[in-house]
Amino acid sequence: MALVTTTEMFEKAYNGGYAIGAFNVNNMEIVQGITEAAGELNSPVILQVSKGARAYANHTYLVKLVEAAVIENPDIPMALHLDHGDSFETCKSCIDGGFTSVMIDCSSMPFEENIKITKQVVDYAHDHGVVVEAELGTLAGVEDEVNVEAGKESYTHPDEVEEFVTRTGCDSLAIAIGTSHGAYKFKASQCTRNEEGILVPPPLRFDILEECIKRLPGFPIVLHGSSSVPQEFVKIVNQYGGNMPDAIGIPEEQLRHAAELAVCKINIDSDIRLAMTATIRKYMAEHPDHFDPRQYLKPARQAVKDIVAHKIKNVLGSVDKA
Ligand code: G3H
Ligand code: 13P
Ligand code: ZN
Repeated sequence: MALVTTTEMFEKAYNGGYAIGAFNVNNMEIVQGITEAAGELNSPVILQVSKGARAYANHTYLVKLVEAAVIENPDIPMALHLDHGDSFETCKSCIDGGFTSVMIDCSSMPFEENIKITKQVVDYAHDHGVVVEAELGTLAGVEDEVNVEAGKESYTHPDEVEEFVTRTGCDSLAIAIGTSHGAYKFKASQCTRNEEGILVPPPLRFDILEECIKRLPGFPIVLHGSSSVPQEFVKIVNQYGGNMPDAIGIPEEQLRHAAELAVCKINIDSDIRLAMTATIRKYMAEHPDHFDPRQYLKPARQAVKDIVAHKIKNVLGSVDKA
């Protein structure tokens, strides 16, 4: 099977009460870890590339790595998606360069400007058989070159979504309901503590999601900033020379619930970074004499595979949906 768009994936996910994982890829080990997990679990998957990933690894290398993964996993539907496209030009370059899906993220712009640029991307993308994700509302955290301070984020206004989708013709919509980018999603002051003193983040705004669903029945919703920042990895990082105090993510059961509703795409990047970093830090500490990158990248790739398999089984619910 060649690379596919997300249209059929999302239709089945919406009707089946599950979501497709969209995992960020930056190098060969990450592509292999993600797609080996999807292949073994017979799950569709979205591989997404940010502007930063293109700057780091080069567009052509990333496309060719993903094409290799398609050859290795011929029965798995895979989409290649631009994450947080910041302009028409960036989106066009990915549409022309083999991507099957792009995100145009003008969420920090005024409503009319967001509509104008999103529509321009949609028109070009649809003419080339490519689908478009757009965004309304802003998440806190760091996304490519957009850095939104905690407290400056704004939830999506449900009364805007219908007009936005109708006027732009976008194929899916990312909304802001309390998720955020990176490994430090909430300040301690925003959280409560459980009996063991562990930080408990504020719940996602399911009321906003429900309102959006009412206004856009059958339409695929996307959640960015959906890493859960597993505390076992934070602990390993800190134990082996790292310093990640107060790293905190979105509880997995809330993402599972969102996947049962209209959320068809769940974006995960930080958890992959954390799994790799924890694994490499531990490996280096335990094997100070090793210097062959294959020695530490092999367990790091396995860690990517394990965390993605965990998400597919326990968060996304996409096992055997290929
Ligand atoms: O939302 C942002 C993604 O995690 C990509 O991050 O821009 O550092 O590649 P990046
Ligand atoms: P995380 O930082 O929570 O993994 O979010 C990634 C993301 O939204 C990529 O677009
Ligand atoms: Zn994002």
